[in-house]
Amino acid sequence: MMAAGERSGGGGLIAILGAGSVGRLWAALLPSEHCAFLPRLSIDASEHEFEPRRSFSRQEVSPETRCEYVLVRSAPPFGANAPASRQRSRASRPWLAREVLRTSPMAPQGFGRDFLTASPDPEDNRSSVSLPWLRSAESVRLILVTTKAGDTLAALNDWLPHIPGDTPVVLFQNGLGSQQTVAEHWPERPILAASTTEGANRPSPDVLVHAGAGDTWVGALTTSAADHMPSVVQQLAETGLRVHAEENILQRLWQKLVINAGINPFTALLNCPNGDILSSTLYQQNIDGLCAEISLLLHAETSMAIAPGVLREQIETVARNTASNTSSMRADVMAGRKTEIDFINGYLVQCGERHGIATPVNQMLTNRVQGL
Ligand SMILES: NC(=O)c1ccc[n+]([C@@H]2O[C@H](COP(=O)([O-])OP(=O)(O)OC[C@H]3O[C@@H](n4cnc5c(N)ncnc54)[C@H](OP(=O)(O)O)[C@@H]3O)[C@@H](O)[C@H]2O)c1
Repeated sequence: MMAAGERSGGGGLIAILGAGSVGRLWAALLPSEHCAFLPRLSIDASEHEFEPRRSFSRQEVSPETRCEYVLVRSAPPFGANAPASRQRSRASRPWLAREVLRTSPMAPQGFGRDFLTASPDPEDNRSSVSLPWLRSAESVRLILVTTKAGDTLAALNDWLPHIPGDTPVVLFQNGLGSQQTVAEHWPERPILAASTTEGANRPSPDVLVHAGAGDTWVGALTTSAADHMPSVVQQLAETGLRVHAEENILQRLWQKLVINAGINPFTALLNCPNGDILSSTLYQQNIDGLCAEISLLLHAETSMAIAPGVLREQIETVARNTASNTSSMRADVMAGRKTEIDFINGYLVQCGERHGIATPVNQMLTNRVQGL
């Protein structure tokens, strides 16, 4: 009998469920011959008939063909994890060598291109990507779920009945709540979560911009996921992005949640870039109360003891370092999309209810963002 990790690292495809910004980023950088997108399934899909939806809304590609888009790199290429074969091949591409020189040794960045299906244009760091939409899940060896938090359960409910029970599933959602819900729904399956600081966006349906290179941590949520960790990390690292195994992924997700809870709702309510919240009255009047609530919740949920003042400093450091950025929550509001507030400040309100901790600031921010 084959070991879990052995199976995951062998043949088969890495299937990406959620062909948005994050999904397209990983898809563009994974070995193209091993990667494909899972389409939305219609409500009446049966076990034997995969019926992709007619309308792919913002995806705007026909499920009968391939998912095609242009990857634009504004993040520097190649990191410590880039496969040796890719690093060796830089010499034959002077445009890559120039980019490598601009990469700070303090912040090694990951970027790959060798596995894309078309040639890059050396003048503007663009690469064409073309990957199939999967019509059957038989050959899937790993699933990356890159839907928004609120869509994750429905997307997996559609697909998991068609996928073997030992296929690892990696959840890429921001915030918290959706990950635990998935793990509780399928406790026997190998469910993992990822927390990533890679940044990607889609200025138009067929363009994917890798806006900022970062780090990705992956950790097990269910018992059976632990065996798959080395193989999953190794497969994701094939992208050249920086991928790390994380023993306590929920704690890692909490750390990101703190920052998102302290920046995103203010940017959405004030309709401003991250840095501008710091001088606003709304922020000044609420940040201490917010950090006091989060400090209590953090301790109740994770046993981490972090003083409110330290949390405020962490939030403000990120806001200053990303001063001109538009948060995903602000971008969602601007585009008329549903935000992930229920999985950020809304999740904190739910935690407060569980622990008997009052969360008036989180509740106010949740209510106001929901009302936008
Ligand atoms: N973008 C980033 O830089 C970034 C960074 C870190 C973490 N994250 C997190 O990663 C997650 C994904 O973010 P994103 O920016 O990639 O979002 P996104 O661009 O909106 O992509 C989500 C994709 O999922 C698709 N989808 C929704 N329901 C589906 C279903 N039932 N079956 C199949 N596909 C479905 C959507 O299709 P439609 O377009 O048709 O709705 C969309 O293409 C979020 O939780 C986000 O917070 C994002």
